[in-house]
Amino acid sequence: MCGITGYIGGKNAAKEIYEGLRRLEYRGYDSAGAAFTGGGKLTVIKREGKVEKLLPLLGETVSHVGIGHTRWATHGAPSDINAHPHVAGDIAVVHNGIIENYAKLKAGLVESGVKFLSDTDSEVIAHLINKYYSGDLLAALQKTAGLLEGSYAIMAICAGEDRIAVTCKKSPLIIGYGNGENYCASDEPALAGKCDEITVLEDGDFAELTSTSVNVYNGDFRRIMRGREPNLAVSVDLTMGDYPHYMLKEILEVPQSVVRTGTAFASVEEKLKDAFKDVDRVILTGCGTAYHAALVGKRYFESFLKMPAETETAGEFRYKNPVIGGRTAVLAISQSGETADTVEAARLARERGALVIAVTNSHRSQLVRLADVVVPVAAGPEICVAATKSYTGQIAALYLCAATLAGGELNEGKYRALSHVAALAEKVIKNSDVSTVANMCSRSRGTYFLGRDLDYALALEGSLKLKEVSYVPGEGYPAGELKHGPLALIYNRTVAVFIITDKELAVKCENAVEQVVTRGGKAVVITNVDGIVSKLPKKVKHVIRIPKADKYLSVILAAAVVQLLAYRTATVLNRDPDKPRNLAKSVTVE
Ligand code: M6R
Repeated sequence: MCGITGYIGGKNAAKEIYEGLRRLEYRGYDSAGAAFTGGGKLTVIKREGKVEKLLPLLGETVSHVGIGHTRWATHGAPSDINAHPHVAGDIAVVHNGIIENYAKLKAGLVESGVKFLSDTDSEVIAHLINKYYSGDLLAALQKTAGLLEGSYAIMAICAGEDRIAVTCKKSPLIIGYGNGENYCASDEPALAGKCDEITVLEDGDFAELTSTSVNVYNGDFRRIMRGREPNLAVSVDLTMGDYPHYMLKEILEVPQSVVRTGTAFASVEEKLKDAFKDVDRVILTGCGTAYHAALVGKRYFESFLKMPAETETAGEFRYKNPVIGGRTAVLAISQSGETADTVEAARLARERGALVIAVTNSHRSQLVRLADVVVPVAAGPEICVAATKSYTGQIAALYLCAATLAGGELNEGKYRALSHVAALAEKVIKNSDVSTVANMCSRSRGTYFLGRDLDYALALEGSLKLKEVSYVPGEGYPAGELKHGPLALIYNRTVAVFIITDKELAVKCENAVEQVVTRGGKAVVITNVDGIVSKLPKKVKHVIRIPKADKYLSVILAAAVVQLLAYRTATVLNRDPDKPRNLAKSVTVE
């Protein structure tokens, strides 16, 4: 999953493409590149590494037609050669997605004498367009697309032509309309402040952009009109302000994510109740952090509604032939609303007759378009690859869903409970000193997160966050499972972080803490349970206290602590927490 953007109009395309790519870098940062046409020539600039590496190379480039790409490598290692755009003859192409049948297509082209320069799947697209081009770029793209299997958003330009041809399937593509200029991009952020109106292309659509026109065609190549929508990305502040990293800025926004999600939820409350009338079972799904939020949500549905609730990672759900009836609600949770596995899981659930609820921070995404009900997460744009405020926003949204459907006191007190925990989260973020523990984690050979019940759900997230941004290995485990295997990993160079926010289960965790210190491990306890400190073994030197809160919402407070811990550990180790190696923010491929 990469970010792509295109521009055609009176301004300098080099500047427009560069700005667009900077805003899309969260989709991948293994390499970046751009291609421009002008004076009958094609100019191509590309480099391994982050988008900023293009800046000196763009130099004097003046053009009015360009396409750009920021890459998250799938086929072919990150390198200059594998960077997009890919060129064949006079054609340059950028691609987001995966061409599943590229090997077969490539073999055919090689046989006919075509020489490939890169190891990517995308290069076949450039060669095919070049092969079919006879003066009409869009027609050549159409012929090419007919041969491709997989997912793609493609932009193509041709030396000597003042136009951009685009198409998409299972990968997002947006057109932005300007005055005497037009844009295209894989995502709205690229168009922030650039135009007032956009069109989201549908699967199989083609479009041809000139500076004064945009013609859209459907899969049968009939000219069609697709609706225009306001460009909501215009007013979004994507700057880092005075913060050293987006991750820190976004952790500080955790309290707002909870409060704003509460405010946004009011508009969907009645619709949700109505849609749930006949539901007797829920399945919660998502990937990564969103899946960890699903684990928390499951407990809300079970405890508040006494309703059977299951969880499944979206990548498993879609391939396990799930049993779904008409009385099942599938809650698909996704910050971006574009994660391929989650979108496809929701599509499958819908095909099998389930009620599909999208819980998402992105209000104009694929997930939103196929859901029956959209429960908004109002965390605001999240730029750091590691999910932080979107996770707490997702938990708030799931709490609101379950409390609303449960009715009674839970329903009546739900907004108050969330405001209260948000205020406490402010204090936690301000007062928690995690620096000593971060130093310990940075030196450890492994850091393990342990907890029971909701604390276990958070242990999984704490572990994911730490490894994602600091590369310190570790795992999240149910505290009760420690003695059934992972204890073998505990010695004086490993750290065990216990999350203990449930009074009733605290005593059960104390045993596990004891087991860790007995084996020489370094134990850290994050807790808001009274009296626990006196009961912990003397060797536990590191206790991070959080305020007492609602049993079901304490997880939000402890989440802020594990996020801060991951962030600090990454900075101790000089990692870039905003752009961890090998990762991207939006995983739009399988
Ligand atoms: O956009 P989504 O919420 O669907 O993304 C799902 C995961 O890719 C994401 O949560 C990932 O695990 C994060 N980088 C974790 O911090």
